[in-house]
Amino acid sequence: MSPNKNDAVAPIGVFDSGMGGLTVLRALHERLPGEDIIYFGDTARVPYGTKGEKTVRAFASQDAGLLVELGVKMVVVACNTASAFALEHLRETMPVPILGVINPGVRTALAMTRGGPVGVIGTSGTIRSGRYQEGLAAGGLGEDRILVQECPLFVPLVEEGLMGHAMTVMAIEEYLLPLRDAGVDTLILGCTHYPALKDDIGRFMGPDVKLVDSADALALAAQDRLTELALLRGDTSREGKLEFYLSDIPWKFQEIGARFLGKPIEEVITVGLDEMEAFSDSND
Ligand code: DGL
Repeated sequence: MSPNKNDAVAPIGVFDSGMGGLTVLRALHERLPGEDIIYFGDTARVPYGTKGEKTVRAFASQDAGLLVELGVKMVVVACNTASAFALEHLRETMPVPILGVINPGVRTALAMTRGGPVGVIGTSGTIRSGRYQEGLAAGGLGEDRILVQECPLFVPLVEEGLMGHAMTVMAIEEYLLPLRDAGVDTLILGCTHYPALKDDIGRFMGPDVKLVDSADALALAAQDRLTELALLRGDTSREGKLEFYLSDIPWKFQEIGARFLGKPIEEVITVGLDEMEAFSDSND
């Protein structure tokens, strides 16, 4: 039987549109090594970043529903696009705490900026949702200090492992030149895949621009929230178990998985889309 969701020994659930969220799993596991973590990647329906709000919300409900069914004590929404479109809905409908990636990233950026403009890069969905812009504005930044840019080519470039490649350098220049010219002092990497481009982006933007890795910010927020709820696992000497569920096994999945996770994924459980649809909520 799975542990009770209100029990500190229950696992943490993490979901993403695909495998990019393994960057968040990795950051969580590094910060909270004793916690068991269940990861679900919706590899059959990735990308979410090009899809509309209603579709992303319906998928996110099913993703979180699966994790709740598996007995998690908290759901971490690793996907920026799903955080942008579905967080409030999940908070209203799920019986466990839901943590998204946007607020932690915004908080970190607000703490890092030195008075210049703050840049945000993400998928088309994330940027068009306006959620990062709202968060930064609520934190006191005027419109002239918030600069955003959709970077749709970054996800496929990272999935192909083209870090440091001339094509990636060109895409970075194309997307980020206006932000660099505007003098942003802080740049939020608002997508699961972008931490993999940290070195390339850092080289282009220069050493004075602080890069906000949303995976690190989210892991810290998860630790704080679990502590607050008395759901943090006390026994820190154990090595937490990591379990992987995917809705499809992509070509090159071992290679892509290791790129994001930093080590190979040994075993994966596949969940069919018909099974996922059973977790739809009535509003979808
Ligand atoms: N996980 C998505 C995000 O962080 C990127 C990949 C996708 O478009 O689904 O926004």
